[in-house]
Amino acid sequence: MRKKRLYKKKPDDTERKEERKRQKRQTAYGGEIMKKWEANIRKVVPYVPGEQPKAENIIKLNTNENPYPPAPGVQKLAAQMDTDRMRLYPDPTNGALVDVLAQTYGLPSDQVFVGVGSDDVLAMCFLTFFNSEKPILFPDITYSFYDVWADLYRIPYRCQPLDENLCIRREDYYQENGGIIFPNPNAPTGIYEPLEMIEDVLQHNPDVIVIIDEAYIDFADGPSARSLLEKYENLLVVQTFSKSRSMAGMRIGYAMGSRELIRALNDVKYSFNSYTMNQAALELGTEAVRDQAYFEACVEKIKATREWSKTELKKLGFSFPDSQSNFIFATHDRADARVIFQALKERGIFVRYFSKPRVDAYLRITIGTDEQMVKLMEALKEILSHECKNAVK
Ligand SMILES: Cc1ncc(COP(=O)(O)O)c(C=O)c1O
Repeated sequence: MRKKRLYKKKPDDTERKEERKRQKRQTAYGGEIMKKWEANIRKVVPYVPGEQPKAENIIKLNTNENPYPPAPGVQKLAAQMDTDRMRLYPDPTNGALVDVLAQTYGLPSDQVFVGVGSDDVLAMCFLTFFNSEKPILFPDITYSFYDVWADLYRIPYRCQPLDENLCIRREDYYQENGGIIFPNPNAPTGIYEPLEMIEDVLQHNPDVIVIIDEAYIDFADGPSARSLLEKYENLLVVQTFSKSRSMAGMRIGYAMGSRELIRALNDVKYSFNSYTMNQAALELGTEAVRDQAYFEACVEKIKATREWSKTELKKLGFSFPDSQSNFIFATHDRADARVIFQALKERGIFVRYFSKPRVDAYLRITIGTDEQMVKLMEALKEILSHECKNAVK
């Protein structure tokens, strides 16, 4: 029987070599050499989404969600969901959802693309369509994900300043570029540009792809740019279920465009992940589109509350661009927006504040239910007379 060694064995040559290799590897990760692989890491400054507070009984007016539940059919279907189906991959073509959207908007199915919220669709669009050496153009005050995607995919870009009324200057989009994107209505201003302006931009840009991000279009009084699709093969219109269809949590967005554009988007999608949409989102999204009456009623309620809120905010001394969306971008000439934001938060009312130049005097207030907006106005009244005393004349 071999005797058990009671002392530590002296390392032999092979062990010593192994140890040296181990130490070398350690230096590689902890020392100078680390910088070399660090150089291969993609560095991006990420988009910061609005807060999703965990506390109950708060009034959440900070991320432009819909205050009303999804259509009754969606609620019923969610309650009856067949969990056995989860074993299977979902339909990679997103067929049922694509078809119901195509029917609703009077388009052939091969002109519709579906993705995981419009963020996913838009990110895919940046990757698919913005591959020029020339800069893409978008407004300086707009959805703050655009410059993040441009940086992520190393797309050159130029921000075009909004005018003094926070409107897009169409002439800024007449110059040479590698593509154009802007929301209509714009965010966070809420300003809707008429179809004639969109068409003018398209006419000046026949050689690049123009994307109109219509996340808020259902709340606007004017029409969608969808009606221009027949005429302009380089136009892509992107919409979402997150706002008007009360389904932000399900993550459903879609793009409508010419067959060529949709085919190119699908090619990129299938080169990235065949199953972007989960089964539940596909089924529930399809059901949501079927209930057009509920959708229209919800939108009308929000629009009515928005108009009431405009009147009340004006009475309190706020001013704002004329919003055609489900939020109001409001400023007060005598009260500090950051102070109001903080004071509202302390009262359990969340709105959005951007500490960025040109917009740091504004609050973006999502339209909630009538009851929530009444509470907001009461809180604002109180804050303006206590925390912001100079605001009261
Ligand atoms: C202008 C604009 N586009 C796109 C989105 C993304 O929406 P979602 O990914 O929820 O569809 C938002 C979200 O707030 C937005 O404001």
